[in-house]
Amino acid sequence: MRVLVTGGAGFIGSAVCRQLVRDHGAAVINVDKLTYAANLSSLAPIANESKYVFEKADICDRGALDGIFARHMPTAVLHLAAESHVDRSITGAGEFINTNVVGTYQLLEAARFYYTCLLPRVRGQFRFVHVSTDEVYGSLGANGRFREDTPYQPSSPYSASKAASDHLAYAWFKTYGLPVIISNCSNNYGPYQFPEKLIPLTILSALEGKSLPVYGDGSNVRDWLYVDDHARGLIALLGHGRVGEKYNFGGDSERANLAVVDLICDVLDQLAPTSQPRRSLITFVTDRPGHDLRYAIDASKARRELGWEPRQTFESGIEQTVRWYVNNCAWWQPIRADVYSGERLGLEGRS
Ligand code: NAD
Ligand code: TYD
Repeated sequence: MRVLVTGGAGFIGSAVCRQLVRDHGAAVINVDKLTYAANLSSLAPIANESKYVFEKADICDRGALDGIFARHMPTAVLHLAAESHVDRSITGAGEFINTNVVGTYQLLEAARFYYTCLLPRVRGQFRFVHVSTDEVYGSLGANGRFREDTPYQPSSPYSASKAASDHLAYAWFKTYGLPVIISNCSNNYGPYQFPEKLIPLTILSALEGKSLPVYGDGSNVRDWLYVDDHARGLIALLGHGRVGEKYNFGGDSERANLAVVDLICDVLDQLAPTSQPRRSLITFVTDRPGHDLRYAIDASKARRELGWEPRQTFESGIEQTVRWYVNNCAWWQPIRADVYSGERLGLEGRS
């Protein structure tokens, strides 16, 4: 396997690169523009492996992509590069359209050009896995779960741009025969996540004794999946996913946001006790505009066809994640100091 991973310096992409190199002995070409969300130190565990190569490039740059395909001759693409934070998409949607829509289009075209030039024997093995989110399905009410055939109804500029990219990826399969597989996954958490998302932001602010902002009344529900479980699912798609199909991944771990924040506070109180319980830092703040109420995934297709299932429960995954942030301040302190210190984003919604 020689896998071209886009967005490999991000949270999920770096987990995929580490797993491919360490657990599968695969060659990895990590293509990343290095936006604010990237961190090459997340690749430190594999950076010196001869099978790992980093290429700094923007997926919107077709010339750069053509050169990378020609130089490295990948047997598969795992496409994770994206702008990924809903709150930032509310503040400014432009980069989401550029990278998630235009960038995906440029990558699909570069992959198609490369694919058509492959020898038939190699061409049959080639796969393009497009990594997407459950947020394309919109919001659930109190009941039901997202299935692969749930209609798309994205709410935010982020999820709308991801939905657009999913449609492009599928069209490149239908129209051009590019061997595309699409995955839609629920919220990930784990080590190396940029501290703008709920779980790492809460851990770091709680460690620093700062207030813990909970949007609205904290009753919005997400279905949490540990990042290494998602990475295993994506790698399984390379070998066992059916071309032209969609696969949902989720953790069967629905939790209200307030319950997530409470649990993090309690785990931190045990690991690093302070005079005041961390729950006293919780602050209810203005809700996110267009805030989806509930996400929940039916992952039975991935379980059935790929033999995939999560290894972490939410409780075991949160404990590992909190421990990792406590023990790895060298990874996050420069981010908090120089890149993003945790201020509120994304309040520019409808009036
Ligand atoms: P992330 O924001 O941590 O990382 C994104 C990476 O993409 C960064 O390294 C960034 O530098 C890179 N990138 C951005 N624009 C680029 C461009 N134009 N060219 C090249 N590289 C570029 O994101 P993540 O949380 O790791 O998510 C990865 C993928 O998984 C995304 O496609 C996202 O939509 C999807 N996803 C995320 C979650 C989640 O909970 N985080 C859940 C389901 C699906
Ligand atoms: P987030 O981690 O941004 O992921 P997503 O919006 O992709 O689901 O947010 C997860 C949930 O947590 C979402 O319902 C919004 C909420 N949230 C807070 O309550 N406080 C926060 O500071 C953040 C960042 C999110």
